[in-house]
Amino acid sequence: ALRGSFASKAQKSSPRSQHHLSPQASYKVAILGAAGGIGQPLALLVKMSPLVSALHLYDIANVKGVAADLSHCNTPSQVLDFTGASELANSLKGVDVVVIPAGVPRKPGMTRDDLFNINANIVKTLVEAVADNAPEALIHIISNPVNSTVPIAAEVLKHKGVYDPKKLFGVTTLDVVRANTFVAQKKNLKLIDVDVPVVGGHAGITILPLLSKTKPSVSFSDDEVKELTVRIQNAGTEVVEAKAGAGSATLSMAYAAARFVESSLRALDGDGDVYECSFVQSDLTDLPFFASRVKIGRKGVEAIISSDLQGLTEYEQKALENLKPELKASIEKGIAFAQKQP
Ligand code: NAI
Repeated sequence: ALRGSFASKAQKSSPRSQHHLSPQASYKVAILGAAGGIGQPLALLVKMSPLVSALHLYDIANVKGVAADLSHCNTPSQVLDFTGASELANSLKGVDVVVIPAGVPRKPGMTRDDLFNINANIVKTLVEAVADNAPEALIHIISNPVNSTVPIAAEVLKHKGVYDPKKLFGVTTLDVVRANTFVAQKKNLKLIDVDVPVVGGHAGITILPLLSKTKPSVSFSDDEVKELTVRIQNAGTEVVEAKAGAGSATLSMAYAAARFVESSLRALDGDGDVYECSFVQSDLTDLPFFASRVKIGRKGVEAIISSDLQGLTEYEQKALENLKPELKASIEKGIAFAQKQP
């Protein structure tokens, strides 16, 4: 049932590949930062997944109540709670997917990079524990600035000798979700049909929706392209300002992250038709990490889809060139942070 609500037509698997899904599919998912604004609704959505057998909720505080509450939902997965650093290792044992929304969110006037100092350390500590306790798991990084926290995670995993670039994902699904919503509204399309690839990174101008590649094919005036692009890039700030100090996007983010988890689990389960945009190690451009559509399979990223970057419009080509210096700097900042740590 969940599949229908998360996947647009373009992402749904063909009827044939659906037959691969075994009825006893049972995956373990850990959420680190599970008591937070994103963590709680994300835990609820993952609790609804028929593919999940156990949900491990970890936070530094307040997670016991969240787990007790969720555990009363009559869906198959077992809910376990883990509080504080001493229980972190156990929260990760045997898990297939680790989702990390731990950290502080933006307040009005802040950029995602303003979160760097706090969140960089949180992500580093958590990914070290993942390396030690769940080295085979797929890792989904939500904590901002994603453009830097994903490179930090990669360095930590390398340092631990367990880095598999196919298994490390920066979650940019919310950019796609927003692009799909705004385009469908603007063009009066049925939401379920719309799929817009979003490439680059996950902050300001590094978020590049490729409107010319929208499915189904739609045409936009130059003004519409500009307006939609800017709205998609600033959509996070729209929420930060509306919440006026009470945080950033949590519900739409949880929705987007749950879709990414569900897609990953379907891929692990053998569905051969799973595509999502994500910020991953990539050779698509001269940057070491780049968000694009990727095909996800049993072992993580199976292919990086290069065709979306071919035949760009002049506007998109220029925006792509313009975003590279900022994205490069954010990536390098993350790598430098991780390398200067003991
Ligand atoms: P929040 O403050 O409501 O929740 C964060 C949670 O992390 C809290 O429960 C806190 O106790 C926990 N936490 C802090 N340090 C921790 C540690 N060392 N280990 C485990 N848990 C820890 O924040 P919210 O709104 O849930 O946002 C979380 C992060 O997600 C922020 O960095 C935010 O910028 C990012 N975000 C990312 C988006 C994306 O598209 N990738 C979209 C929206 C937010």
